[in-house]
Amino acid sequence: MRYHIVTYGCQMNVHESEKIAGVLKKEGYEAADSIDGADLIVFNTCCIRDTAEKRALGNIGALKKRKKSQKELLIAVLGCMTQQKGFGESLRETYPFVDIVLGTNNLHLLPYYIRLKKPAVKIETDDTYDVGVSTETFRTSYPNAWVNIMYGCNNFCSYCIVPYVRGREISREPQEVLREIAFLLGEGYKEITLLGQNVNSYRYGDTDFAGLLREIDVLPQKFRLRFMTSHPKDLSPEAVEIIRDSAHICKSIHLPVQTGSDRILKLMNRKYTAEHYAGLVKLIKERIDGVLVTTDLMIGFPTETEDDFQDTLRLVRECEFAQAFTFVYSPRLGTVSAEMPDLDAETKKRRITELIRVQNKISKSVSETFTGKICEVLIEGTDSGGRFVGRTDNGRLVAFPQDGEYKIGDFVSVKISASKSASLVGEIV
Ligand code: SAH
Ligand code: SF4
Ligand code: F3S
Repeated sequence: MRYHIVTYGCQMNVHESEKIAGVLKKEGYEAADSIDGADLIVFNTCCIRDTAEKRALGNIGALKKRKKSQKELLIAVLGCMTQQKGFGESLRETYPFVDIVLGTNNLHLLPYYIRLKKPAVKIETDDTYDVGVSTETFRTSYPNAWVNIMYGCNNFCSYCIVPYVRGREISREPQEVLREIAFLLGEGYKEITLLGQNVNSYRYGDTDFAGLLREIDVLPQKFRLRFMTSHPKDLSPEAVEIIRDSAHICKSIHLPVQTGSDRILKLMNRKYTAEHYAGLVKLIKERIDGVLVTTDLMIGFPTETEDDFQDTLRLVRECEFAQAFTFVYSPRLGTVSAEMPDLDAETKKRRITELIRVQNKISKSVSETFTGKICEVLIEGTDSGGRFVGRTDNGRLVAFPQDGEYKIGDFVSVKISASKSASLVGEIV
């Protein structure tokens, strides 16, 4: 049997696909290069925005014909989309050729339902099976390895579906996390990325996020430590100092702000003000030499006025983000803000275009400051043009000609010769 997994959504989902692959490998399945060569197609879905959901449903629907001619083809739908109320049943109604629908905490049951050989839907949010065990994960992201430190979210930002589909926060035992990281470093991984919807609220017994970082930081190997995502309401000055003094933690912080309008922040239930956020960014930049701050921004939240939008642009200019992921608000059924009137499409389009234009200019000017510098880069892969690609410690993407002496997973010194919007080019020195 050959499987192919199609992944949508965030890094957490990408990592979960590695766990699904691990479970299937253990059962003797082999990976197929594409959907076409697969006997089992797994859709690991996301429902954060309407666009993510539509893309998955479109791709699932497109298999109807093939399933008719290839009766033994198995189609499984997993991931966040399945966790929405009543979704499993309604999906099987609209797409009766889907064989298996499993919730995010039930992915380890996939082999069981395959063997069962009859259509099945199983969604259970209270099944706390911890699939973080590294030996059951088929990793494909070398030299980076993702490590969950917590699952779920307690924040209930008014626009967000994650707390509904991922349940409440559960932190993994620190010893378990440390054991997994030590194992991965022993296997030769060079970068560890800790995953959680809100890593700053990690807590297990007496160990909080700062404590966990300290424990990981004493590991002796040369490696990079990254984490995502930090919530601005909980990122403590103590954590900032740990990052500054750490041997391994990268000088790069992803700190989603969403909007620069205090009125909208309040409606979003984000629990901080634009002033608090800007102060935090200032503190980070003062304390950590060479740090780059990146963010998530959302336009078009219900009732957002032109003034609110201008507040966002002002904050974006003030914080000089190295890069920003920009999103158009999308109402999600069951969330608080879904009850509020949605803005018109034209206003949203105009605002997102303007926001991207402003941020691109800033990204470009941040990139320009790299020209002529020599940076340590971890070689992470190759691009379509055959060049090596990797990132600087503070997270800037760099492309440079291959050199036979080096391979993916090596740290090299790269002299930056030119810059584009959010990326750099250079050569090994
Ligand atoms: N836990 C993280 C990220 C969650 S999802 C955090 O709190 O920052 C990643 C991003 O998707 C969010 O930061 C937000 O910008 C965006 N997002 C979430 N819900 C959305 C929605 N309903 N419409 C548009 N964008 C959304
Ligand atoms: Fe969603 Fe907010 Fe939780 Fe992030 S912190 S996952 S935006 S509810
Ligand atoms: Fe991630 Fe999408 Fe789920 S962003 S947590 S895969 S809803």
